[in-house]
Amino acid sequence: MEIAIVGSGYVGLVAAAAFAEIGHQVICVDNDAAKVAALSRGESLIHERFLPELLARHRGQRLRFTTSIGEAVRASDVIFIAVGTPTDETGKADLSTVEQVVRAIARELRGATREKKIIVEKSTVPVGTSRWISRVMLEAGARTDLFDVVCNPEFLREGCAVTDFLYPHRIVAGGSAESCERLREIYAPIVDGSYAEREDAVPIPDGATTPASFIATSAESAEVIKNASNAFLAMKISFINAVANVCEAVGADVEQVREGVGSDARIGNEFLRPGLGYGGSCFPKDLVAFRSTAADAGYDFRLLEEVIRINAHQREMFLRKVHDALWTLKGKRLAVLGLAFKGGTDDVRESPAIAFIRMLLREGASVAAFDPAAAANARALFSKDEITICDDLYDTADSADALLILTDWEEFGQLDFDRLRAVMKQAVLIDGRNMYEPEFVVQAGFAYYSIGRASHPRAKAASEVDRAA
Ligand code: UDX
Repeated sequence: MEIAIVGSGYVGLVAAAAFAEIGHQVICVDNDAAKVAALSRGESLIHERFLPELLARHRGQRLRFTTSIGEAVRASDVIFIAVGTPTDETGKADLSTVEQVVRAIARELRGATREKKIIVEKSTVPVGTSRWISRVMLEAGARTDLFDVVCNPEFLREGCAVTDFLYPHRIVAGGSAESCERLREIYAPIVDGSYAEREDAVPIPDGATTPASFIATSAESAEVIKNASNAFLAMKISFINAVANVCEAVGADVEQVREGVGSDARIGNEFLRPGLGYGGSCFPKDLVAFRSTAADAGYDFRLLEEVIRINAHQREMFLRKVHDALWTLKGKRLAVLGLAFKGGTDDVRESPAIAFIRMLLREGASVAAFDPAAAANARALFSKDEITICDDLYDTADSADALLILTDWEEFGQLDFDRLRAVMKQAVLIDGRNMYEPEFVVQAGFAYYSIGRASHPRAKAASEVDRAA
């Protein structure tokens, strides 16, 4: 099938590459000419596993890029809208870019006599957007028999976006039975499992379910499914963070509690990792928008407000921990590991690490930070000299009063403690992502503070360190 994807951000670009991978002709549109030029040259622009491979495999063959939405609409049977929907000042999703795209599609369809086009809403949007899209299309002169609108929410996570797209738990399509069926055809290799069997398929990640289930619903239900899924996941994170705080107060260990609670299949152990809280381009924005949608519809969804509050409070709690370890922060030198909103991505949008660094700076500390992928994006958020961003992890630790882990990059779980001790002023590790077993860190001679577990304030002297550990 000929598919157009409007928007080449995380969702649009990954969808474009993945649709080409499962056999479609894809034309990806973006109004940013520099971006389109870079993508056409073969740059992948975002740090995402398997994306460079897929782009290299399909670029210039089944996948091309353009700035012309008209060209893309004319060439395609199905048009996916995957543009940004940021939160405006009032907490509502700003749909102005979606509207511009819809009007541009309508312009192309005016006077057209060709086959019907399906407009697919892929961006995360408030409930009711599907209806609005139809209304705007009609107002803009598109003939009712020449288009249909379907909501096909995307559930991919950054960092494993390609495998999430190709091996999803489910594909949701909301709209008329006929258009949902067209979507099922588009996703056929994923829904019938034939993609997974291909020799050149992207490897199936652990825990993936294939084939994916296909769930056809009304447009409103599909829109709620997306909003409610993100809200539920964020709620799980805030829940375990609140439990972590109770654990600290009563002398329990949240990691043991998490295992015990998450082993109940009704609860599940995913999204129960305690830490500095959630961030990213989705959860913070989507929760606020869902709450606002509910309020507009006359329901006061206070649970969501509490989820948001706990998330913000988590940073305050962590700051207290840094104070516990170091007392005053003015003039202290802090080494920070992690700038991205989570490990495996270069995305710093709504990153808890960035927000926390700002809190440290307000307290008068100086910060040297390292991130394996997000350094360039983070640099743009700070003024010159506000923080030092190092190219080498161990350079951040030079003369540091403490090392703070703020993002769960896998490599932060394999630190060379001897090397760190040798350069740090004090051997103190404050772990905002529970990357270590406390005993291990203590044996390595560090004072250790983590989330929802007892603190170990005394660093061993070098002579006391058990080398066997
Ligand atoms: C999320 C949803 O998972 C995805 O389905 C949706 O399409 C987009 O939003 P993403 O933002 O890429 O994906 O990241 P995710 O892996 O969900 O993590 C979100 C945040 O929660 C990160 O800051 C992460 O560090 C945090 N998190 C996640 C936790 O603190 N604990 C956990 O157990 C899981």
